[in-house]
Amino acid sequence: MLWLFVLAIAVVVICVRHLLESWNFPPGPPRFPVIGSLLSIEKYGSHLILQATKLIPQYPKMVGFFAGRMRVVIINDFDLAKKVAFSDTFSGRLIGMYTETMRGYNRNIGVISTQGQIWRHNRRFSLSTLKEFGFGNKGMWSIIAEEAAIIVTDLKTKWDGQDFVVNQTFNISVLNILWKIVSGKRYHPDDPEMKELMRVLALVFKSAYIEEVFPILQYTKFTQEWYGHSQKQLLTQTFKSMFEQVIREHEQKLHTKESPRDFIDVYLEAKKGNDLFTKEDLIGICMDFFEAGGETVGSTLSWVLLYMALHPEVQKKCRQEIFNCLGVREPTMNDRGTVPYTEATIMEIQRCSSVAPSGLEHKALEDTELDGYTIKKDTLLFYNINSFFLDRDYWGDPENFRPERFLNDDGSKTLKYERFIPFGFGKRVCMGESLAKAELFIFTIMILQNLRIKISANHAKPDPGQYEAGITRSPLPFHVTLEAI
Ligand code: HEM
Repeated sequence: MLWLFVLAIAVVVICVRHLLESWNFPPGPPRFPVIGSLLSIEKYGSHLILQATKLIPQYPKMVGFFAGRMRVVIINDFDLAKKVAFSDTFSGRLIGMYTETMRGYNRNIGVISTQGQIWRHNRRFSLSTLKEFGFGNKGMWSIIAEEAAIIVTDLKTKWDGQDFVVNQTFNISVLNILWKIVSGKRYHPDDPEMKELMRVLALVFKSAYIEEVFPILQYTKFTQEWYGHSQKQLLTQTFKSMFEQVIREHEQKLHTKESPRDFIDVYLEAKKGNDLFTKEDLIGICMDFFEAGGETVGSTLSWVLLYMALHPEVQKKCRQEIFNCLGVREPTMNDRGTVPYTEATIMEIQRCSSVAPSGLEHKALEDTELDGYTIKKDTLLFYNINSFFLDRDYWGDPENFRPERFLNDDGSKTLKYERFIPFGFGKRVCMGESLAKAELFIFTIMILQNLRIKISANHAKPDPGQYEAGITRSPLPFHVTLEAI
């Protein structure tokens, strides 16, 4: 009898809590105590944000979900997204099992997953030091061109006239660029250990947030296996010991204060006598670069090959423009503005591929209000970049691949669009934007100078609808035929 009474009390408490949490929460699919919006999430598929785009007719401004124990709001309206992105109140990040315990050192570390003073400090320091070591300077452009030349020559010599599977082809090359700045190291594009690490990293990206949404999954071996707990553990442990080793090597090798060799040297120098600099945060920042800088640019370059194969007329036009303006010489960022059709094509590929469809979460740091709705502390908000790229009222024909939309009438200049925000915007805008833009520009030009990309006669046509989505959106492996130029 007593247990029935306790059960009844528990049910009442759960229902009252649910009602209080639901009160004035942004509208969305039905949500129930305990399971939240699970039934709808099931129905709409695993990538909530891409699927939320389908709900725009019903919820044009924002849609609210209860994902397990988390309150999640996806912002579909551009002006509201701007409000969220530029506000300090929404500049937090999720502090959870993965970020705190597995990836962190019982606290969140680095830039991507920190908030408040630590985030501001780590971000400011990383941005200014990276600027010193490269973003936007000549040394950087030649490092990018060097890496692009290695992979392009490799493809040219090994795959001329043959079918080639595009599958994370450029990920290690783009990581090498960051490594050069951060630690002076580089890896061979075929390095088996790095390839394995990249494969696991991609898997982790696909199952991000899952153990935070359903913490219960952490408690049985079977459910842990289902969401890739051990792979996440392996990845973070491998990263941590890799970076610990590199930092140890830096501590042992002497350098002068005036001539630091790389990012790690500058950090270790700044750390002397300043408690805001910690070895854990240095490891966190290195992980941020690896996680945010490889998969995103690597996937975009895979999309470049995919769209080039599907649109031979665009490919031909880009190549003609490149040969007319640059010939066969290596590009630099000073060439920006001289090849507007190629630049417009890269922008259109970024729009159509929507590689970071929702950016990262923005956590409310206090109870607040948004467009008349109550947003409680710790609610996670995502702005739906994918929906801004597909807005028919804004783009006219968003479903068409049409680089010309990014060009002025006579095709001599690229156009800026407020809603073209592949790197996000606001307080937590991508830290690697300049680097990523330089990589996409230089790699794309060097690919087109050296290779013709064609649909394979022996395999299915690459399909932009075949992709894997998590934090990033990357095409499933596809075949093209490569022809050396
Ligand atoms: C095409 C390539 C890339 C795309 C599409 C991209 C996109 C994004 C987006 C949408 C965000 C989230 C913005 C937000 O939360 O409001 C972000 C954050 C971030 N990105 Fe990138 N990114 C790219 C490349 C890079 C590279 C090369 C780096 C390496 C330095 C990088 C480092 C970061 C970091 C550290 C953050 C977190 C910033 C913070 O929390 O303050 N990204 N990126």
